[in-house]
Amino acid sequence: MTVSQDTYRLTSPDGSEMELPVRSGTVGPDVIDIARLYRDHGVFTYDPGFVATGSCESDITFIDGEKGVLMYRGYPVEQLAEHSSFIEVAYLLLNSELPTEAELSEFDNTIRMHTMLNEGMLNFFKGFRYDAHPMAMLSAVVGSMSAYYHDEIDATNRGHRNIFSHRILAKLPTIAAAAYKLNIGQPFIYPRNDLNYCENLLHMLFAVPAEPYEIDPIAAEALDLLFILHADHEQNCSTSTVRMAGSSGANPYSAIAAGVSALWGPAHGGANEAVLDMLEEIGDVSQIGKYVDKAKDKNDPFRLMGFGHRVYKNFDPRATIIREMCHKVMKQLDRKDTPVFDLALELEQVALKDDYFIEKNLYPNVDFYSGIIYRALGIPTSMFTVMFALGRSVGWAAHWREMISDPKGKIARPRQLYTGPAARDYTPVEKR
Ligand code: CMC
Repeated sequence: MTVSQDTYRLTSPDGSEMELPVRSGTVGPDVIDIARLYRDHGVFTYDPGFVATGSCESDITFIDGEKGVLMYRGYPVEQLAEHSSFIEVAYLLLNSELPTEAELSEFDNTIRMHTMLNEGMLNFFKGFRYDAHPMAMLSAVVGSMSAYYHDEIDATNRGHRNIFSHRILAKLPTIAAAAYKLNIGQPFIYPRNDLNYCENLLHMLFAVPAEPYEIDPIAAEALDLLFILHADHEQNCSTSTVRMAGSSGANPYSAIAAGVSALWGPAHGGANEAVLDMLEEIGDVSQIGKYVDKAKDKNDPFRLMGFGHRVYKNFDPRATIIREMCHKVMKQLDRKDTPVFDLALELEQVALKDDYFIEKNLYPNVDFYSGIIYRALGIPTSMFTVMFALGRSVGWAAHWREMISDPKGKIARPRQLYTGPAARDYTPVEKR
């Protein structure tokens, strides 16, 4: 393959030349536009797992995996983590620009005013077993929003698209808290709109009707930071799922439910739950070597959860920020979980010095430390991925809006390399 300015030239097996246009984004690698490859040259491309394939044009989030850069709408995540709030970041992701004071206040108020669920929706929870996984309940109840709001979702209507994002952002914490309350057999706690986003979530999770509940400002601050860091991550598995499901014109609430399901897997958002399970299994610093060896063994399916990333090959900037917050939470909340944190710090050090992890560029990712914070806040392991989903919900909504408003948008429909039998004749059952 040769490159000449803005065209790639490929030579096919029969010696004929194909010219493919090259497109440049604002920053990041160029892309070869192969949209006409099949029509003009009769071949498909093959890239399982989309390792080198751009699936869309997007102006929401940029990642440079080699340099550990993550930017939302051009703003480095470190700056947003230090100076912004999750609600402001949500506005930025949905509306492309940071809000003025008046815009922020109006947006914040709108989200506060949409926190309640239709009372009928609460009945769904009575149908789940007491020990249903909260991610399963989240996916099911978010999917049910498509039944409640089906008539108000004309994708060509900007107002409808806005209401959709507001409902997703505002109601997911209420659904998540209802799932948690079912698991622990406590009554559902209604939202309080005088509280900010994370305070309200803590209130719905931990308040009980029998006594007053005091919100810990450190807990609210830590959650807000985690949500900022989880808010978007360009075309990751769950976001691509939302875009793909939505590309058929499906009701967007169902598309978000599909995203929740995709997030649940341990290779994606489910890793935060898996990290804590792993740390508990390791149990003691003396066992670290044994588990690191297991992770390196090709014949052992065990992986160090919270390590490695498809895009980050140097460090995950989110992990660096969360690690700092971990220290702060542990110190200020004076938690008894310090041994788990100490174990995580030691495991990180051992892996970072190990040739296997160095050669494969495997570094701690966002999920390595997030679970430790959630646990210190009293959030049970089964709720960790739900927390990730709450932060990511705004990214899903922003991507659905971008996808559905794209005039060049098409239904997502990949092709394949078929390896099944060639055409053969049907044999009647008595002759088989
Ligand atoms: N422990 C041990 N070996 C690993 C690990 C790990 N955590 N991650 C990757 N490897 C090895 C893997 O065996 C492979 O080795 P080889 O080249 O010899 O076959 C090599 O590193 C490349 O791995 P891969 O699976 O081909 O890489 P990928 O880009 O497809 O997968 C990943 C990325 C995140 C799924 C993977 O690193 C992993 O399973 N990590 C553990 C789960 C985890 O922490 N996931 C959270 C990701 S961050 C949150 C999010 O955004 O979803």
